[in-house]
Amino acid sequence: MSKITNICCIGAGYVGGPTMAVIAAKCPHIKVTIVDLNVARIAAWNDENLDNLPVYEPGLDKIVGEARGRNLFFTTEVEKAIDEAQMIFISVNTPTKTYGLGKGKAADLKYIELCARQIAAVAKDDKIVVEKSTLPVRTAEAVRSILDNTGNGVKFQILSNPEFLAEGTAMEDLLAPDRVLIGGDTDPEGVAAIDALVEVYANWIPKERILTTNVWSSELSKLTANAFLAQRVSSINAMSELCEKTGADVSEVARAIGMDSRIGPKFLKASVGFGGSCFQKDILNLVYIAKSYGLDEVADYWEQVIIMNDHQKRRFASNMVKTLYNTVSGKKLAFLGWAFKKDTNDTRESAAIYVADDLLYEQAGIAVYDPKVEEEQILADLNYLGTRSKEENAKGVTTFSDPYDACKDAHAIAVLTEWDEFKGYDWQRIYDNMKKPAFVFDGRNVLDGEYLKSIGFVFQTIGK
Ligand code: NAD
Ligand code: UDX
Repeated sequence: MSKITNICCIGAGYVGGPTMAVIAAKCPHIKVTIVDLNVARIAAWNDENLDNLPVYEPGLDKIVGEARGRNLFFTTEVEKAIDEAQMIFISVNTPTKTYGLGKGKAADLKYIELCARQIAAVAKDDKIVVEKSTLPVRTAEAVRSILDNTGNGVKFQILSNPEFLAEGTAMEDLLAPDRVLIGGDTDPEGVAAIDALVEVYANWIPKERILTTNVWSSELSKLTANAFLAQRVSSINAMSELCEKTGADVSEVARAIGMDSRIGPKFLKASVGFGGSCFQKDILNLVYIAKSYGLDEVADYWEQVIIMNDHQKRRFASNMVKTLYNTVSGKKLAFLGWAFKKDTNDTRESAAIYVADDLLYEQAGIAVYDPKVEEEQILADLNYLGTRSKEENAKGVTTFSDPYDACKDAHAIAVLTEWDEFKGYDWQRIYDNMKKPAFVFDGRNVLDGEYLKSIGFVFQTIGK
């Protein structure tokens, strides 16, 4: 394979958009075309106003602004882009299956299969196909079988190159990753394909940070990394409940254990529960894979991470009800934050959705303010759960574009996302305009509890 000068990426989402924008920015000699079936999404990527990009990530607008139209292109012309590319990244969604065998656990690979079939149908010359999506271990086998059996005699190399970026810090993560992982076949053609992708990343990443493995190790490493990270959050959240009972302070415990270099300080922030499109989906998938090999103990071990997380979300909501005199019926409860973490507009699996769902069940009125999430998304998230009718959700939830309006006349405030701006609010003004006693439930340990108490708030946070 000659030097890569033309790349196509199928899927213009939270991963495809930012990763390819960085490749284009760092490799001006490579033409990068991102394709998607979603016409509105592609139009948003092409919007002249960079504030309207479909993905919010600090710094993304600048990089897209520089490369778009030069060597970075967004289009719905999937076949043309596949035909022209030497290397094709598959970066489509791989959600948890909502039907059939493995429902609620296995990854739904229908979008991956569609991509493989489309590549097979269009390709007229040899291609390197790169799995960028997070996939169950041994998916490359299925992709190969489709490509080899329906292709036009074209030779395909299949690589696994999972993405480790976290939302909200995607640009930093992509510009200076801890490592890039590339898995491929160990025969000479496989090694040549791996080398071709290494050369792309080597344009800005030191070679010692580019790790190469066999395909199966690479596929499984991605699920493993997410499982380990989520396990840390569930572990500290488990301790947070014990802290609340014993007078220990979870932040102090986290600091004390985090200074042990074997444990390390990251991913030890107790919270209302982890969210995001990856952790739950990938662990459920891991559980499913382990079960499918008959490894019940392995499956049960990892499933506990999810069970703990569900418990943490549920106990946050039930604690609010209990503290508010065992009833929130008809009470206005203000939510600060809806996104699953700060600095993103992504709400997938956000803890806020589940806390709201429980409180709506108790007939509360929810008032939401999030700096980056619109009402349409909030209602769509609740409607997706199917707990009640769309009309009932719309009646129970009001969205505000001003946090002070959201908190006005509220009985309580719940902090669900750790947006920095929440710390700088005029909390005296918020207090003055609330029903008394005024409660704050900080699900992210971001507010200054002592200061809030000095104003007059009844303040509760996780793990203290
Ligand atoms: P996403 O839903 O934001 O984007 C996927 C896009 O693929 C959508 O725009 C969809 O329209 C498009 N698509 C689906 N099928 C298509 C087809 N046949 N042809 C063209 N376009 C098609 O998803 P995402 O968050 O970008 O995640 C993509 C993959 O990356 C998933 O496997 C995910 O697990 C993995 N991942 C995500 C993150 C993250 O932080 N979001 C991080 C690492 C890995
Ligand atoms: C995660 C992985 O970090 C990333 O490597 C992978 O590519 C995709 O999945 P992401 O879901 O975007 O990234 O964000 P992350 O920072 O991992 O946070 C996930 C959830 O855990 C968030 O809801 C966050 O608030 C929560 N979290 C994280 C905690 O509650 N406490 C912590 O200490 C860390």
